[in-house]
Amino acid sequence: MISLTKCSASSLTCSSFSTRKLPPAKPQVLTLPAINNVEQSTSPSRLCSQKPLYLSSTESLALVKRKRVTECQAYEADRSRPIEINIELPGEDAAQRAKIGMYFATWWALNVVFNIYNKKVLNAFPYPWLTSTLSLAAGSLMMLISWATRVAEVPKVNFDFWKALFPVAVAHTIGHVAATVSMSKVAVSFTHIIKSGEPAFSVLVSRFLLGEAFPMPVYLSLLPIIGGCALAAVTELNFNMIGFMGAMISNLAFVFRNIFSKKGMKGMSVSGMNYYACLSIMSLLILTPFAIAVEGPKVWAAGWQSAVSQIGPNFVWWVAAQSVFYHLYNQVSYMSLDQISPLTFSIGNTMKRISVIVSSILIFHTPVQPINALGAAIAILGTFLYSQAKQ
Ligand code: 3PG
Repeated sequence: MISLTKCSASSLTCSSFSTRKLPPAKPQVLTLPAINNVEQSTSPSRLCSQKPLYLSSTESLALVKRKRVTECQAYEADRSRPIEINIELPGEDAAQRAKIGMYFATWWALNVVFNIYNKKVLNAFPYPWLTSTLSLAAGSLMMLISWATRVAEVPKVNFDFWKALFPVAVAHTIGHVAATVSMSKVAVSFTHIIKSGEPAFSVLVSRFLLGEAFPMPVYLSLLPIIGGCALAAVTELNFNMIGFMGAMISNLAFVFRNIFSKKGMKGMSVSGMNYYACLSIMSLLILTPFAIAVEGPKVWAAGWQSAVSQIGPNFVWWVAAQSVFYHLYNQVSYMSLDQISPLTFSIGNTMKRISVIVSSILIFHTPVQPINALGAAIAILGTFLYSQAKQ
């Protein structure tokens, strides 16, 4: 009558229930409390059905119509955190696909807009520490207002949550600032080509620092990633060492963000939106003193005046756009993790980089040599192969 099936993809293991038609029988209700909060001892994943499962063997199986939510502890290469995956019934496939399509389209579009405005601002106002701080401040403010006005549900988090979040936030802050510093020195497309090499950092750190072993196809997929990034770097017309190192440091920091998230956040679960909101608030608190120390209000005031005189009043809107869109694209990406598997997410992230690289080259008329474009294409292909090999 009921079978528990187990499926696994990448680091994700989930269980689902399948049902088949019951022969007519005396109506009865079965409660299966044992299904709640099942700890899977042989797997790092944890299954817990959100509600008790009621089965009735009357002619229509009410259960089949109800949406079931299975929470899986799973993590992916870019946005590690416990996620919930909604397992939809077959009839709901089309609607679910449309919903995921919407998430992806929104995520990529917001990301493209963020990258464009971020670069426009940095071209006129080359102070990446302040622009990084403003991105986190805008997100934190938006979420605090949403919680205060009950537009968004206030997360139920305790001291242990914030404690576990701290190293994640440190790594997130470093990764964010380093990427912004990179974009202030080189073309947006170049930063994102180097950022597509993040899986290589993930595997190397896991292998050499944590002693994790991977199957051979995973190691092989690193060859095009590293080779493609190297080719793109040596053929980049406007190469700048700080820009290159910023993107590399960002990759490394985001790998550590994921490792800390995996280790510290296990067993804690908040929605994607709230998880990212808490991360933003903590990162803002960490970053602000450093931003003041590295750049400082005097430099900012002079730079601001020069940018406004150069661009006009629109400059203020550019700053607002880069800050708000930074939060929105990250929020949508974390929200989409609630809906999709880590593998789908990581493929989506690779596709996102393609949209950013292509659109920024078109908008900023970035000069690209064919050999440089080939390097980028090889690196992106490698990232795609990596996500497949991780299965
Ligand atoms: C940042 O500023 O945090 C980075 O640009 C983030 O890049 P990603 O979300 O594309 O990894």
